[in-house]
Amino acid sequence: MGPVLTLLTGQNALEFLAARADEAEQGRSVYWQEELGNFLVAADGSVSGRAALGNVAAKVSAFNTLAHAVLQFPFHRLAPYPDRADCLRLGRLIAKRQNRQFTNDNQRQCFTLALIRKYLDLGSDDCNLVIGDGYGVMSSLLLLYAPHRRAIVVNLTKPLILDMAYIRQALPGIRFALVSNGEEMCAALADDSIRMIGVRADDFESICEAAIGLAINVVSMQEMEPPVIKNYFNLLRGNKAQQTAFYCCNKLHKKLSDGTKLRFNDYPWRDGDSVLHNTICPWSQWYYDKTPPFWHYRHGDGRVIWHRLALLEMDSK
Ligand SMILES: C[S@@+](CC[C@H](N)C(=O)[O-])C[C@H]1O[C@@H](n2cnc3c(N)ncnc32)[C@H](O)[C@@H]1O
Repeated sequence: MGPVLTLLTGQNALEFLAARADEAEQGRSVYWQEELGNFLVAADGSVSGRAALGNVAAKVSAFNTLAHAVLQFPFHRLAPYPDRADCLRLGRLIAKRQNRQFTNDNQRQCFTLALIRKYLDLGSDDCNLVIGDGYGVMSSLLLLYAPHRRAIVVNLTKPLILDMAYIRQALPGIRFALVSNGEEMCAALADDSIRMIGVRADDFESICEAAIGLAINVVSMQEMEPPVIKNYFNLLRGNKAQQTAFYCCNKLHKKLSDGTKLRFNDYPWRDGDSVLHNTICPWSQWYYDKTPPFWHYRHGDGRVIWHRLALLEMDSK
Protein backbone atom coordinates (compact mmCIF):
# COMPACT_ATOMS: atom_id res chain seq x y z
CA MET A 1 0.00 0.00 0.00
CA GLY A 2 1.33 3.48 -0.92
CA PRO A 3 1.59 6.36 1.56
CA VAL A 4 -1.77 7.72 2.72
CA LEU A 5 -2.40 11.15 1.28
CA THR A 6 -3.08 13.78 3.94
CA LEU A 7 -4.91 16.83 2.69
CA LEU A 8 -4.24 20.28 4.09
CA THR A 9 -7.55 21.47 5.44
CA GLY A 10 -8.97 24.36 7.47
CA GLN A 11 -6.54 26.48 9.49
CA ASN A 12 -3.61 24.26 8.47
CA ALA A 13 -4.23 25.19 4.84
CA LEU A 14 -4.28 28.91 5.66
CA GLU A 15 -1.11 28.65 7.71
CA PHE A 16 0.62 26.73 4.93
CA LEU A 17 -0.27 29.54 2.52
CA ALA A 18 0.71 32.33 4.91
CA ALA A 19 4.17 30.75 5.34
CA ARG A 20 4.61 30.82 1.54
CA ALA A 21 2.97 34.18 0.80
CA ASP A 22 6.19 35.81 -0.37
CA GLU A 23 7.50 32.97 -2.54
CA ALA A 24 7.95 33.79 -6.22
CA GLU A 25 5.05 32.84 -8.49
CA GLN A 26 5.00 32.38 -12.26
CA GLY A 27 1.34 33.42 -12.48
CA ARG A 28 2.10 36.98 -11.29
CA SER A 29 2.00 39.65 -13.97
CA VAL A 30 4.25 42.68 -13.60
CA TYR A 31 1.27 44.47 -12.03
CA TRP A 32 0.80 41.87 -9.27
CA GLN A 33 4.54 41.53 -8.78
CA GLU A 34 4.49 45.19 -7.70
CA GLU A 35 1.18 45.18 -5.82
CA LEU A 36 1.76 42.06 -3.74
CA GLY A 37 4.87 43.64 -2.21
CA ASN A 38 2.72 46.40 -0.70
CA PHE A 39 0.82 44.37 1.86
CA LEU A 40 1.01 41.38 4.19
CA VAL A 41 -1.70 38.83 4.86
CA ALA A 42 -1.79 36.71 8.02
CA ALA A 43 -3.32 33.23 8.24
CA ASP A 44 -6.48 34.69 9.82
CA GLY A 45 -7.03 36.89 6.76
CA SER A 46 -5.97 40.15 8.43
CA VAL A 47 -4.14 42.56 6.14
CA SER A 48 -1.47 45.13 6.91
CA GLY A 49 -0.25 47.64 4.34
CA ARG A 50 -2.00 48.83 1.21
CA ALA A 51 -3.88 46.05 -0.54
CA ALA A 52 -5.00 46.61 -4.13
CA LEU A 53 -7.73 44.06 -3.90
CA GLY A 54 -10.87 46.14 -3.94
CA ASN A 55 -12.91 47.63 -1.21
CA VAL A 56 -13.43 46.04 2.21
CA ALA A 57 -15.29 48.94 3.79
CA ALA A 58 -15.44 48.34 7.52
CA LYS A 59 -17.81 51.27 8.20
CA VAL A 60 -21.06 49.49 8.94
CA SER A 61 -22.96 52.19 10.83
CA ALA A 62 -26.64 52.65 10.00
CA PHE A 63 -25.81 55.95 8.28
CA ASN A 64 -23.17 54.38 6.04
CA THR A 65 -25.39 51.46 5.20
CA LEU A 66 -28.23 53.80 4.24
CA ALA A 67 -25.92 55.99 2.15
CA HIS A 68 -24.66 52.97 0.18
CA ALA A 69 -28.20 51.65 -0.29
CA VAL A 70 -29.39 55.01 -1.64
CA LEU A 71 -26.44 55.28 -4.00
CA GLN A 72 -26.84 51.68 -5.15
CA PHE A 73 -30.55 51.84 -5.85
CA PRO A 74 -30.35 53.48 -9.32
CA PHE A 75 -27.97 50.69 -10.38
CA HIS A 76 -30.66 48.06 -9.96
CA ARG A 77 -32.07 48.88 -13.38
CA LEU A 78 -28.71 47.90 -14.89
CA ALA A 79 -29.38 44.26 -13.96
CA PRO A 80 -33.00 43.59 -14.98
CA TYR A 81 -32.91 39.89 -14.12
CA PRO A 82 -35.58 37.89 -12.26
CA ASP A 83 -33.21 36.69 -9.51
CA ARG A 84 -31.56 40.04 -8.82
CA ALA A 85 -33.32 40.55 -5.47
CA ASP A 86 -32.37 37.09 -4.26
CA CYS A 87 -28.75 37.60 -5.29
CA LEU A 88 -28.68 40.93 -3.44
CA ARG A 89 -30.13 39.23 -0.38
CA LEU A 90 -27.32 36.65 -0.46
CA GLY A 91 -24.72 39.37 -1.02
CA ARG A 92 -25.96 41.35 1.99
CA LEU A 93 -25.85 38.21 4.12
CA ILE A 94 -22.23 37.63 3.09
CA ALA A 95 -21.27 41.23 3.90
CA LYS A 96 -22.96 40.95 7.29
CA ARG A 97 -21.19 37.71 8.14
CA GLN A 98 -17.89 39.20 6.99
CA ASN A 99 -18.62 42.26 9.15
CA ARG A 100 -18.17 44.64 6.25
CA GLN A 101 -20.20 47.15 4.33
CA PHE A 102 -22.17 46.01 1.28
CA THR A 103 -20.41 48.15 -1.31
CA ASN A 104 -20.49 48.68 -5.05
CA ASP A 105 -17.93 45.85 -5.34
CA ASN A 106 -20.31 43.44 -3.62
CA GLN A 107 -23.26 44.63 -5.67
CA ARG A 108 -21.37 43.99 -8.93
CA GLN A 109 -20.87 40.35 -7.98
CA CYS A 110 -24.58 39.97 -7.11
CA PHE A 111 -25.62 41.35 -10.48
CA THR A 112 -23.21 38.94 -12.16
CA LEU A 113 -24.79 35.98 -10.41
CA ALA A 114 -28.26 37.25 -11.35
CA LEU A 115 -27.22 37.37 -15.01
CA ILE A 116 -25.75 33.86 -14.84
CA ARG A 117 -28.90 32.52 -13.16
CA LYS A 118 -30.96 33.94 -16.01
CA TYR A 119 -29.08 31.82 -18.55
CA LEU A 120 -27.85 28.74 -16.71
CA ASP A 121 -29.35 26.00 -14.62
CA LEU A 122 -26.84 25.25 -11.86
CA GLY A 123 -28.70 22.11 -10.83
CA SER A 124 -26.00 19.55 -11.62
CA ASP A 125 -23.27 18.79 -9.11
CA ASP A 126 -20.42 19.99 -11.32
CA CYS A 127 -18.01 22.36 -9.59
CA ASN A 128 -17.97 26.14 -9.86
CA LEU A 129 -14.55 27.69 -10.44
CA VAL A 130 -13.72 31.28 -9.53
CA ILE A 131 -10.50 32.57 -11.07
CA GLY A 132 -9.14 35.61 -9.19
CA ASP A 133 -11.96 36.23 -6.71
CA GLY A 134 -11.67 39.13 -4.26
CA TYR A 135 -12.29 38.41 -0.58
CA GLY A 136 -14.14 35.30 -1.70
CA VAL A 137 -17.34 37.20 -2.51
CA MET A 138 -18.26 35.45 -5.75
CA SER A 139 -17.29 32.05 -4.36
CA SER A 140 -19.43 32.67 -1.27
CA LEU A 141 -22.40 33.71 -3.40
CA LEU A 142 -22.10 30.50 -5.41
CA LEU A 143 -21.76 28.36 -2.28
CA LEU A 144 -24.84 29.91 -0.71
CA TYR A 145 -26.95 29.77 -3.86
CA ALA A 146 -25.89 26.29 -5.03
CA PRO A 147 -24.49 24.46 -1.98
CA HIS A 148 -24.60 21.14 -3.86
CA ARG A 149 -21.78 22.43 -6.09
CA ARG A 150 -18.29 22.77 -4.71
CA ALA A 151 -16.43 26.02 -5.19
CA ILE A 152 -12.87 25.82 -6.49
CA VAL A 153 -11.00 29.05 -5.89
CA VAL A 154 -7.76 29.75 -7.75
CA ASN A 155 -5.64 32.79 -6.99
CA LEU A 156 -2.12 33.99 -6.29
CA THR A 157 -0.99 32.89 -2.84
CA LYS A 158 -1.58 36.06 -0.80
CA PRO A 159 -5.00 36.89 -2.25
CA LEU A 160 -5.93 33.21 -1.96
CA ILE A 161 -5.49 33.42 1.82
CA LEU A 162 -7.95 36.31 1.81
CA ASP A 163 -10.42 34.49 -0.43
CA MET A 164 -10.38 31.38 1.76
CA ALA A 165 -10.44 33.22 5.09
CA TYR A 166 -13.36 35.40 3.99
CA ILE A 167 -15.29 32.45 2.55
CA ARG A 168 -14.92 30.77 5.94
CA GLN A 169 -16.50 33.84 7.54
CA ALA A 170 -19.35 33.91 5.03
CA LEU A 171 -20.04 30.19 5.43
CA PRO A 172 -19.29 29.41 9.07
CA GLY A 173 -18.34 25.79 9.60
CA ILE A 174 -17.51 25.14 5.92
CA ARG A 175 -14.88 22.42 5.43
CA PHE A 176 -12.18 23.36 2.95
CA ALA A 177 -8.89 22.10 1.59
CA LEU A 178 -5.86 23.39 -0.26
CA VAL A 179 -4.67 21.18 -3.12
CA SER A 180 -1.39 21.35 -5.02
CA ASN A 181 -1.68 18.61 -7.63
CA GLY A 182 -4.11 16.32 -9.42
CA GLU A 183 -3.83 13.56 -6.84
CA GLU A 184 -4.80 15.91 -4.03
CA MET A 185 -7.63 17.33 -6.11
CA CYS A 186 -9.02 13.80 -6.60
CA ALA A 187 -8.75 13.16 -2.84
CA ALA A 188 -10.53 16.43 -2.03
CA LEU A 189 -13.29 15.69 -4.55
CA ALA A 190 -13.72 12.21 -3.07
CA ASP A 191 -14.46 13.71 0.35
CA ASP A 192 -18.02 14.96 0.21
CA SER A 193 -17.60 17.05 3.37
CA ILE A 194 -15.10 19.36 1.61
CA ARG A 195 -17.13 22.09 -0.08
CA MET A 196 -14.45 24.61 -1.02
CA ILE A 197 -11.09 23.83 -2.59
CA GLY A 198 -8.33 26.40 -2.82
CA VAL A 199 -5.64 26.20 -5.52
CA ARG A 200 -2.57 28.39 -5.93
CA ALA A 201 -2.37 29.93 -9.41
CA ASP A 202 0.86 28.05 -10.21
CA ASP A 203 -0.93 24.76 -9.39
CA PHE A 204 -3.82 25.47 -11.79
CA GLU A 205 -3.26 22.16 -13.63
CA SER A 206 -4.67 20.27 -10.63
CA ILE A 207 -8.08 21.70 -11.57
CA CYS A 208 -8.14 19.47 -14.71
CA GLU A 209 -9.24 16.62 -12.42
CA ALA A 210 -12.51 18.41 -11.58
CA ALA A 211 -15.67 18.80 -13.64
CA ILE A 212 -16.06 22.56 -14.01
CA GLY A 213 -19.64 23.36 -14.96
CA LEU A 214 -19.19 27.10 -14.55
CA ALA A 215 -16.10 29.29 -14.39
CA ILE A 216 -16.12 32.97 -13.52
CA ASN A 217 -13.47 35.61 -14.00
CA VAL A 218 -14.27 39.19 -13.07
CA VAL A 219 -11.73 41.94 -13.79
CA SER A 220 -8.70 39.77 -13.24
CA MET A 221 -7.69 38.37 -16.63
CA GLN A 222 -7.07 42.00 -17.55
CA GLU A 223 -4.14 41.83 -15.13
CA MET A 224 -2.67 38.50 -16.29
CA GLU A 225 0.00 37.79 -18.90
CA PRO A 226 -1.34 36.26 -22.17
CA PRO A 227 0.24 32.79 -21.54
CA VAL A 228 -1.54 32.63 -18.16
CA ILE A 229 -4.86 33.51 -19.80
CA LYS A 230 -4.21 30.85 -22.44
CA ASN A 231 -3.53 28.23 -19.75
CA TYR A 232 -6.86 29.00 -18.09
CA PHE A 233 -8.75 28.68 -21.37
CA ASN A 234 -7.02 25.35 -22.06
CA LEU A 235 -8.02 24.19 -18.61
CA LEU A 236 -11.64 25.21 -19.14
CA ARG A 237 -11.82 23.42 -22.49
CA GLY A 238 -10.07 20.31 -21.22
CA ASN A 239 -11.48 19.65 -17.74
CA LYS A 240 -13.71 16.69 -16.81
CA ALA A 241 -17.08 18.39 -17.44
CA GLN A 242 -19.16 17.66 -20.53
CA GLN A 243 -19.75 21.38 -20.86
CA THR A 244 -18.10 24.37 -19.22
CA ALA A 245 -19.80 27.75 -19.18
CA PHE A 246 -17.47 30.71 -18.81
CA TYR A 247 -18.46 34.15 -17.57
CA CYS A 248 -15.66 36.58 -18.38
CA CYS A 249 -15.80 40.28 -17.51
CA ASN A 250 -12.72 42.34 -18.28
CA LYS A 251 -11.46 45.52 -19.90
CA LEU A 252 -11.63 45.41 -23.70
CA HIS A 253 -8.10 46.83 -23.83
CA LYS A 254 -5.44 47.13 -21.18
CA LYS A 255 -1.73 47.87 -21.27
CA LEU A 256 0.39 46.50 -18.44
CA SER A 257 3.30 48.61 -17.13
CA ASP A 258 5.82 46.46 -19.04
CA GLY A 259 4.04 47.37 -22.30
CA THR A 260 2.13 44.08 -22.69
CA LYS A 261 -1.15 44.80 -24.48
CA LEU A 262 -4.18 42.76 -23.46
CA ARG A 263 -7.31 42.62 -25.57
CA PHE A 264 -10.49 40.87 -24.51
CA ASN A 265 -11.24 39.86 -28.09
CA ASP A 266 -7.79 38.33 -28.44
CA TYR A 267 -8.33 35.91 -25.55
CA PRO A 268 -8.40 32.40 -27.05
CA TRP A 269 -12.11 32.35 -27.83
CA ARG A 270 -13.20 30.01 -30.60
CA ASP A 271 -15.85 30.22 -33.31
CA GLY A 272 -17.28 27.03 -31.80
CA ASP A 273 -18.06 28.77 -28.49
CA SER A 274 -21.74 29.36 -28.03
CA VAL A 275 -22.16 32.93 -26.82
CA LEU A 276 -25.16 33.54 -24.55
CA HIS A 277 -24.49 37.14 -23.53
CA ASN A 278 -22.00 39.61 -24.96
CA THR A 279 -22.20 43.32 -24.10
CA ILE A 280 -20.56 46.17 -22.22
CA CYS A 281 -20.91 45.33 -18.52
CA PRO A 282 -23.15 48.17 -17.32
CA TRP A 283 -22.59 47.65 -13.59
CA SER A 284 -18.81 47.71 -14.07
CA GLN A 285 -18.98 50.74 -16.31
CA TRP A 286 -20.82 52.80 -13.67
CA TYR A 287 -19.57 53.47 -10.15
CA TYR A 288 -20.48 55.83 -7.33
CA ASP A 289 -18.52 57.79 -4.78
CA LYS A 290 -18.84 60.87 -2.55
CA THR A 291 -18.12 63.35 -5.35
CA PRO A 292 -21.14 65.04 -6.95
CA PRO A 293 -22.92 64.03 -9.09
CA PHE A 294 -22.12 60.77 -7.13
CA TRP A 295 -22.78 58.43 -10.06
CA HIS A 296 -20.05 58.30 -12.71
CA TYR A 297 -19.60 56.53 -16.02
CA ARG A 298 -16.16 55.33 -17.11
CA HIS A 299 -15.78 57.14 -20.45
CA GLY A 300 -12.98 56.50 -22.91
CA ASP A 301 -11.75 53.64 -25.07
CA GLY A 302 -9.32 52.32 -22.47
CA ARG A 303 -12.05 52.07 -19.83
CA VAL A 304 -14.61 49.83 -21.51
CA ILE A 305 -15.38 46.72 -19.46
CA TRP A 306 -16.97 43.93 -21.46
CA HIS A 307 -18.72 40.80 -20.28
CA ARG A 308 -19.39 37.57 -22.10
CA LEU A 309 -21.09 34.38 -20.99
CA ALA A 310 -20.27 31.50 -23.32
CA LEU A 311 -20.61 27.75 -23.45
CA LEU A 312 -17.08 26.86 -24.42
CA GLU A 313 -16.22 24.46 -27.20
CA MET A 314 -14.66 21.56 -25.33
CA ASP A 315 -11.56 19.66 -26.42
CA SER A 316 -12.15 15.98 -27.14
CA LYS A 317 -11.26 13.78 -24.16
C1 LIG B 1 -8.73 43.40 -9.45
S1 LIG B 1 -8.79 41.93 -8.54
C2 LIG B 1 -10.44 41.46 -8.94
C3 LIG B 1 -11.15 40.94 -7.77
C4 LIG B 1 -12.62 40.61 -7.99
N1 LIG B 1 -12.79 39.53 -8.95
C5 LIG B 1 -13.45 41.80 -8.37
O1 LIG B 1 -14.25 41.71 -9.28
O2 LIG B 1 -13.31 42.84 -7.73
C6 LIG B 1 -7.87 40.77 -9.54
C7 LIG B 1 -7.73 39.41 -8.90
O3 LIG B 1 -7.03 38.56 -9.82
C8 LIG B 1 -6.11 37.79 -9.10
N2 LIG B 1 -5.07 37.21 -9.96
C9 LIG B 1 -3.99 37.84 -10.49
N3 LIG B 1 -3.24 36.94 -11.19
C10 LIG B 1 -3.86 35.74 -11.09
C11 LIG B 1 -3.61 34.44 -11.60
N4 LIG B 1 -2.53 34.16 -12.34
N5 LIG B 1 -4.50 33.45 -11.33
C12 LIG B 1 -5.60 33.69 -10.58
N6 LIG B 1 -5.89 34.91 -10.06
C13 LIG B 1 -5.04 35.93 -10.32
C14 LIG B 1 -5.61 38.79 -8.06
O4 LIG B 1 -4.92 38.18 -7.02
C15 LIG B 1 -6.92 39.42 -7.62
O5 LIG B 1 -7.56 38.62 -6.67
